Amino acid sequence: MTAASPNSPTEIADILAFYASAGVDEALEDAPVNRFAEAPRPVERAPAAAPREDKVPERPAAAPGLDASRVPDAPPARSSVAAVPDEAQAALARQLATTATTLDELRQHMAAFDGCNLKTTAKNLVFADGNPEAAVMLVGEAPGRDEDIEGLPFVGRSGRLLDRMLAAIGLGRTSVYIANVIPWRPPGNRTPTPHETEICRPFIERQIELVNPKVLVNLGGPSAKTLLNTSEGILRLRGDWRVHTTASGIAIPAMPTLHPAYLLRTPAHKKLAWRDFLEVKAKLRTL
Ligand code: URA
Repeated sequence: MTAASPNSPTEIADILAFYASAGVDEALEDAPVNRFAEAPRPVERAPAAAPREDKVPERPAAAPGLDASRVPDAPPARSSVAAVPDEAQAALARQLATTATTLDELRQHMAAFDGCNLKTTAKNLVFADGNPEAAVMLVGEAPGRDEDIEGLPFVGRSGRLLDRMLAAIGLGRTSVYIANVIPWRPPGNRTPTPHETEICRPFIERQIELVNPKVLVNLGGPSAKTLLNTSEGILRLRGDWRVHTTASGIAIPAMPTLHPAYLLRTPAHKKLAWRDFLEVKAKLRTL
């Protein structure tokens, strides 16, 4: 059965309202694109435009020990970006992450990496905010619209709630470090696919390793599942100390808690997050 195309302005307004309520709030292209198609669609070259700040137009210099032949060619024409995240891109992400010896280097490697399709629709790389020397590192899921525009994590509505939660235990943006599992906004704020998460995982793991916080706070299920290597739901995970083990074997105590966006939708659960934040405060006193 074929769905009838909307014709009248009222029908078109109805379908747009339906899309908006489903989170589809941006038209990215004139025609729909199946990004799960096996072969990348040939794309006409856009007229020369100023490179985006987080895109590195030149072939990035190979970091020490990095196999330069695996660094993708520039310029980043859309057709050169993987339509389907694959194991080669995941391997390249791991290599780029491992060879970054500072947070600045890691940021540069991520900005130069074209293997995650989310980068094609994101405005900015959302790397981190806060203090890299902080004892506490918080990791969310992925940037939303406001974060994408500003290039900083948790600056929208849920970020404002997070700031209030942190203030309640005497912390703030200068005393914590904040990042996301996924550094590019998924279009329409959709849930990142498992492939996208696997491709981005080496970057956040290396970021945690380089910051080396005393305590990690996982904001929401996707962060907890990705970084604590579990499939348990956040409502079961939250409130108990877990461990995040870095590639070099450092064990970091981790507190999974509810995501601020979830708390905005489910304010009755704020008390649970409050308990988790008190746990973090108590843990910091013992360190
Ligand atoms: N939600 C997240 O998980 N991260 C952000 O940066 C913003 C909202």
